[in-house]
Amino acid sequence: MTGWIIIRNQVNNTSTLNEYSLRRLHESAAAEGLNVHIYSPNQFKPFVSLGEQNSIYLCGKQTPLPDFVLVRMGSKIEYDGLSLIRHFQSLGIPIFNKPDSIEKVKDKLYTAQLLLKAGLPFPATMLCTESIDWQLVSEKIGFPLVLKTISGSKGEGVILCQNKEQISELVLFFNASHYNGNFILQQFISDSFGRDIRVFVVGNKAVAAMKRSASDGSFKANFSRGGHVENYPITQELSNLAIRIKDVFQLDLCGIDLLFHENGFMVCEVNSCPGFEGLESCTNTDVAREIFIHIKKELTQKLI
Ligand SMILES: Nc1ncnc2c1ncn2[C@@H]1O[C@H](COP(=O)(O)OP(=O)(O)O)[C@@H](O)[C@H]1O
Ligand SMILES: [Mg+2]
Repeated sequence: MTGWIIIRNQVNNTSTLNEYSLRRLHESAAAEGLNVHIYSPNQFKPFVSLGEQNSIYLCGKQTPLPDFVLVRMGSKIEYDGLSLIRHFQSLGIPIFNKPDSIEKVKDKLYTAQLLLKAGLPFPATMLCTESIDWQLVSEKIGFPLVLKTISGSKGEGVILCQNKEQISELVLFFNASHYNGNFILQQFISDSFGRDIRVFVVGNKAVAAMKRSASDGSFKANFSRGGHVENYPITQELSNLAIRIKDVFQLDLCGIDLLFHENGFMVCEVNSCPGFEGLESCTNTDVAREIFIHIKKELTQKLI
């Protein structure tokens, strides 16, 4: 079987495989007998025309389609990446994860809307508009609160704000720097200060989980910020919650961030392209292998 892994950045023979998760996926695919190549969107020309449905233009050549595509473009995926994977989908190639699922979790407000509709716990969240209704914010969200960019990763677009003056200053600052992205204002879950849970789901299984703890005194527990990680047991309750969350978005694989809240969990965010260096370092799970076993199972079922 042939598979293509699509990444956001330019493919570079010397540095692309320096990224831990991608390198592990590459090694694991070979170990599973899969012939996998890594490409970025700019290497394709998605040409839409009747009679052009059995191939795609790759590096200037008409190329046969692969048996599957694994998308590794993360929450910063742009229009070119999304349109390419929609093109793959229109050509009938099995895609892990599908473009609709990626788009839903790329937007943290849309994620909240869909989770709350499904009855799943999410912190109170509001779109940050030009004129903020401070009365409503203090009644429904409270202070301190978390200001977030709609899309983001590694905790980079996430700030804890103590009061309305600080938020107003930040909004002015972003306007002055012509930043035109959107923000959300979110209830701060103080029980979870500097710690959270990452659950990794592949297919219908929560394959591994870890507890992350900030090592720099921040409220953000991301592994990429140097957070300490330890294996976290997957109880039936945790597994059921994780599967319900992934079902809302119909993801094939995802990383779910959960916040500690009173006696349960609240969803923080869902990642369609989670890294797994931290998880493999503190659990006995071969995450890369789990992904390809799932893909092979799905492809075999399609053939039956
Ligand atoms: N509402 C919140 N309450 C408490 N902690 C939060 C909240 N939102 C985020 N965090 C902390 O900040 C980290 C980064 O937030 P997240 O929304 O997952 O952003 P990113 O997409 O950059 O990982 C989380 O892993 C968690 O530790
Ligand atoms: Mg996160």
